[in-house]
Amino acid sequence: MASRPEGAPAVTTRPSPAPLSLRDATVRDAAAIARILNQGIEESASTLEIEPKTAAEREAWLITRGPRHPVIVAVDAQGKVQGWGSLNPFKPRQVYDHVADFSVYVCREMRGRGAGKLMLVDLEKRARSIGYHKMVLAAMPENAAGVRLYTSCGFGVVGTYREQGFRDGVWRDVLLMETILD
Ligand SMILES: CC(C)(COP(=O)(O)OP(=O)(O)OC[C@H]1O[C@@H](n2cnc3c(N)ncnc32)[C@H](O)[C@@H]1OP(=O)(O)O)[C@@H](O)C(=O)NCCC(=O)NCCS
Repeated sequence: MASRPEGAPAVTTRPSPAPLSLRDATVRDAAAIARILNQGIEESASTLEIEPKTAAEREAWLITRGPRHPVIVAVDAQGKVQGWGSLNPFKPRQVYDHVADFSVYVCREMRGRGAGKLMLVDLEKRARSIGYHKMVLAAMPENAAGVRLYTSCGFGVVGTYREQGFRDGVWRDVLLMETILD
């Protein structure tokens, strides 16, 4: 095998895009959604959430969703759920009804293959058609994949809550990002 000339950059190959399709989640997806969410909860860069979720808890969560707060899943050719995303209420006050918070989680084995972007583009489309004016999120600054995904979809940083969370004995900053939809 030919060796790389000194100083030449390493050739990195991006994994081929995952062949996934999107559909609305149903209560039958609760266990898969919990499994993928719990992978994120285990990783301190993904969320400040610390309590793992059960399928029953996610089922109850799915049942409470109305048409303004859809949950989608990304499924592979075998029908296995590989990721999920949702539009969430920002705050209960009526003046914030035009603002959607969102979540997007991809299972570990499928990350970096376009699933996150596929879901976020779809969530944005849904947010527009529902009539939201903007989408917002809070992320850990060290979540490189998340921040890259949001930036690439046009979200900008609007601030940082410093030492907002306290997890595993460490103060954690939280990055706030948003995009205006119209
Ligand atoms: C964050 C997450 C949803 C991104 O989804 P993904 O399928 O892995 O990302 P994609 O393959 O769609 O890539 C989206 C962009 O991020 C970039 N990216 C992906 N993984 C990356 C990484 N590890 N480091 C830096 N950039 C990365 C891609 O190159 C792509 O950039 P581009 O649009 O400029 O080409 C996913 O990694 C995940 O589920 N992480 C754990 C849960 C989590 O953190 N959720 C968000 C909570 S705020």
